[in-house]
Formats: sequence, structure tokens, C-alpha cells
Amino acid sequence: MTDTELGNDIPVLTIDGPSGSGKGSVTQLVAGRLGWHILDSGALYRLTALAAERAQVSFDDGPSLAGIARNLSIEFLPSSPGEPVKVLLEGEDVTEAIRRETTGNNASKVAVLEEVRAALLQRQRDFRQAPGLVADGRDMGTVVFPDAPYKVFMIASAQARAERRHAQLKAQGEDVRIATLLREIEARDARDMGRKAAPLKAAEDAVTIDTTDLSIELVLEKVLSLID
Ligand code: DC
Repeated sequence: MTDTELGNDIPVLTIDGPSGSGKGSVTQLVAGRLGWHILDSGALYRLTALAAERAQVSFDDGPSLAGIARNLSIEFLPSSPGEPVKVLLEGEDVTEAIRRETTGNNASKVAVLEEVRAALLQRQRDFRQAPGLVADGRDMGTVVFPDAPYKVFMIASAQARAERRHAQLKAQGEDVRIATLLREIEARDARDMGRKAAPLKAAEDAVTIDTTDLSIELVLEKVLSLID
């Protein structure tokens, strides 16, 4: 098959980085500006963790978790501007449930397993649709779309990320102490960066942006300036 038949000529912008680095917001804004599709790969790991929790499957049972990941019945519904994309699991709206702190931590646990990652690989690549894709995650530039023409790696200090997360959770009605969030963020970073399978790291050809002291508008401009 040719690249065109495989969809490999469709441009992809990968945005990888740790949680709270601003990837999610920037992905939405860039995709809105370019009119490109979005892959929120973290949502797939979160959905796997939520479905596993509901089925009372242990977070270290690789074969069962891979089965769950492979058979997830999910839908991403487009939303009005500024609103999060609606996520359905088996037809049920789980948009809020997958954003909870515990689901994020559980997602990081199931994401350690090679068979879960393999089960989600093709599902992620299927998001590569014309006119283009903005792919948000940890291994978008290294594993899922290594041939992407545009790659960004976003970082920010753990303190700044804990403060952003605190504000986000507060807006959702969850009040978690910043010190607790900082501890969880550091634990999650260690797990995401230290795992054997597709660890969180910058692709060699990625442009790193430190968002600690940058406004979202400035980050957006920096990212857009990379695209032809
Ligand atoms: O981006 P997020 O916070 O929604 O991701 C939740 C967890 O899923 C994250 O801690 C690690 C895992 N993840 C991953 O391993 N690979 C990805 N491409 C995206 C997320």
C-alpha cells in the first residue's frame, strides 16, 4: 500500500508531556485553529482504567486489561467551543468520571502494561484522518506517530502543574490539597517516565516548550509557528 492509502501523508502534530503541562488545552486550541481532528490518548487509558474498575479487574491483570482495552465501546462527541469533548463508554456519559484524580492515577497504572498499550495502538492510529490530527499523550511522537512532521514536548515545573490541576479540580467541584496533588504528580511522573513500555520522553525530533511561565496564548503561538 502507498503512503496515501495508509493515510501516512495526513499531517500529525504530536504534543507529548507530563500531566498538567498544558497539553490538553493547547491541543484543543491548535486543533480549533487548524480545523484538525484531536486524539486525546490519555482518555483511552482512562477509559480502560474506568472499565476495569467497574468490572473489578485488577490493575496488574495484563491479559484481562488488554481484552478490556481492545473491546472498549467508546464515542467522542464533538462539543461546543470551550466545552470538553463528551466521552461515552458503552453509551454512558463518563466525561466527568474519567477526569477524576483517581481515574488518572489508575490510568497511569494500566498504561505500564505492554499488552494494554499494544491493544490501543491501532485504535489511536485510526484517528489520523484528513485534513490533519493533533495527538495529545506521552508517546505520540515516539511510538504511535513516529513519522509525524510536527512534534512538541511540553514541560512545566511540578509545582506549577499541581497549581493548575488544583484550579481545574476546584472548577469541577473537587477540593484536593495542592501538597497532595504535588505528591501524586511526582509519583505519576516517576511511573510514566520509569516504565519499560513507551516511557514518557521527548522524541529526538521534538521541540521542547517549557510552559511554567508562559501564558496559554504564547504557547499556542509557539506551536502554531512550527506548522507550515
Ligand atoms: O494525559 P492523561 O493525564 O489523561 O493520561 C492519563 C494516564 O494515561 C497517564 O498518567 C499515563 C497514561 N498515558 C500513557 O501512558 N500514554 C499516553 N499516550 C497517554 C496517557
